[in-house]
Amino acid sequence: MPTNETKNIKTIQSLRGMKDIVNEESSLFTYFVENASRIAKNYGFSYIETPLLEETALFKRSVGESSDIVNKEMYQFIDKGENDVCLRPEGTAGVVRHFVEKKLDRAGGNYKWYYYGPMFRYERPQKGRLREFHQFGCEVFGIDSVYEDANIIIMIKEILEFFGIGFTLKLNSLGCKECMPPYKENLVKHLTTFKDELCEDCNRRILTNPIRVLDCKNEKCQLLLHNAPKITTSLCNSCDSDFEKLKEILDFNNISYEVDSNLVRGLDYYNKTAFEFVSNEIGAQSAIAGGGRYDRLVEFLGGKSTAGIGFAIGIERLLELVKMPECNQDVIYIGALDENSLNTVLKVANQKRKTTKTLVEYAPRSFGKHFGIAEKLGANIVALIGENELKNGTIYIKNLKTKEESNLKLEEF
Ligand code: HAM
Repeated sequence: MPTNETKNIKTIQSLRGMKDIVNEESSLFTYFVENASRIAKNYGFSYIETPLLEETALFKRSVGESSDIVNKEMYQFIDKGENDVCLRPEGTAGVVRHFVEKKLDRAGGNYKWYYYGPMFRYERPQKGRLREFHQFGCEVFGIDSVYEDANIIIMIKEILEFFGIGFTLKLNSLGCKECMPPYKENLVKHLTTFKDELCEDCNRRILTNPIRVLDCKNEKCQLLLHNAPKITTSLCNSCDSDFEKLKEILDFNNISYEVDSNLVRGLDYYNKTAFEFVSNEIGAQSAIAGGGRYDRLVEFLGGKSTAGIGFAIGIERLLELVKMPECNQDVIYIGALDENSLNTVLKVANQKRKTTKTLVEYAPRSFGKHFGIAEKLGANIVALIGENELKNGTIYIKNLKTKEESNLKLEEF
């Protein structure tokens, strides 16, 4: 009986924008991660797990001080050792930190890692936008060929197609340190002429990171931006020829895309190729994957200049679109018809578990009760042992789908 004190204890809820992944969603989650990992391994990626907590400076230097993520959305605090730390808002920075920390930039060669796990952004929660969400991501180091950009896009397409998900691929080039600065200057000059008509956020961004003005969601700003200079027509020769080549490789592989010169991404580390996969079936938060090239990020984090490219898929958004395939694997339910048979039931179940999903009921019950429970648990085969079966060294089997019944020798089972 609860005492008066325990009766009044307030129950605790999960935090706003955070949720448990359980039941059908957790089955889908593991189904997704297992298959995406399999595909990543086939493309030469190996698994990396980096800490959830990192020095705040890591994200300031990589994701960028002007980004919304660093500016407004970090779960940042001072730990007991007076370190300024935060929960990772994304996965790339930690992987690059590892790359530089282990001096792999000096060792040369190529590195390909995939990862999955929780990310944290203190955003305003809504459908498809959580404060704790999960990403599946891949990062590649040491390959500057535009064929790798195409390869990454082909791999994401393969993952999405495996799960039967339709998408639109949006593509842009963000230029390099040669062509981006004059483009930005030009853009700022243009924006300044109608600065007062742009929203408050855009005005702040003109000063901090003007290209972010291009993807402002405010309709009035979008109208005003109609004649803004486009990065795709301001690229230097090298970026332009890489972008043309990328489109050519995608065409050759029958991958459709839309060039969107306003696609600037919410993280500051990109150069050249930037892309997003969007779905029109999940509402306003439609980006299911995003990524691009980040050839200067290793340098920003103190390493030797190394090419980098990667992407991340938002798992929760994707799971909205994934359907579990019909499972036709056996699930066996084993139970006892009396107390004396329980030891044998447990022994047989543990043997069976080596190859097949096997559920055990510890309480002895009648045939009918066992059938009912087995059905509820999703088993298709019921195996029962009672006094007779013990005596004869057999086990009673019923296939719940075909209704077939039999008695098998225990060794046969
Ligand atoms: P991102 O575009 O910020 O890129 O996130 C990737 C994906 O994570 C998004 O397309 C979306 O599906 C999902 N996502 C982002 N924020 C939320 C949220 N609040 N709730 C639910 N899902 C969300 C990155 O994070 C880069 N690190 C990707 C990358 C890897 N670029 C190069 N390598």
